Amino acid sequence: MPTRTRRPVPPRVGTWVRTTVARRRRYRPYDVPDDGTYDAGTGPWDGLRALPELGHYALIAGYLRRLAPELGPRPGPVLDVGCGEGLLLEHLGRDWRYRGIDLSDAAVERAREAVGPGQQVDVADAATHRPSGPLAAVVFNECLYYLDDPLGAVERCCEPLVDGGLAVVSMYDAPVTRRVWATLDRWAAPVDRVELRHTGGTSWHVAAYRTG
Ligand SMILES: C[S@@+](CC[C@H](N)C(=O)[O-])C[C@H]1O[C@@H](n2cnc3c(N)ncnc32)[C@H](O)[C@@H]1O
Repeated sequence: MPTRTRRPVPPRVGTWVRTTVARRRRYRPYDVPDDGTYDAGTGPWDGLRALPELGHYALIAGYLRRLAPELGPRPGPVLDVGCGEGLLLEHLGRDWRYRGIDLSDAAVERAREAVGPGQQVDVADAATHRPSGPLAAVVFNECLYYLDDPLGAVERCCEPLVDGGLAVVSMYDAPVTRRVWATLDRWAAPVDRVELRHTGGTSWHVAAYRTG
């Protein structure tokens, strides 16, 4: 019986295959629609108030209530990175000491309408921001995949967390977010991670990390 030998792949085809695979695997963050293109009211984030999104907000709020350490009579402070309109506050409640940062002036303007005493929102770039502490918790809700260096931002923003402080990351499932999770997996092991799947088809992963 004749034996079948594998014909070598011509070098140029091999190079093409390697370059194409590498390009597909490369992490490319989403562009940020900002500087006026963020449109309050009809803005790109209005969908975040839709019912299918409820699960990841509820889980983030649950992690914060259950796992964030107590640093005073009021819960928090929590830093909400890429806070948008401060929607997380609607799920957390008014008693939390809360700081939000976002790149978008329009989003921050809207978020400022939602905050109460002990809560503050500022325009800042998560790519360079160095928050002050101490912080009980830091939340990255659907924002890391806009950053060139998501892990760098997570490490910097988590620096002021107290020992036992909490970091919570939520991202919907997509090729770009799987790449961000792969980077985070090399950073730390979560204390808990949940996959939520809405019957509409979208799924999210939400993970909680503890310092110390
Ligand atoms: C999908 S929205 C999520 C908003 C908010 N976390 C929420 O869940 O309601 C993404 C937000 O990340 C913000 N963002 C993107 N890149 C950012 C950056 N480099 N620094 C700060 N915020 C950023 C956007 O302006 C936008 O408000």
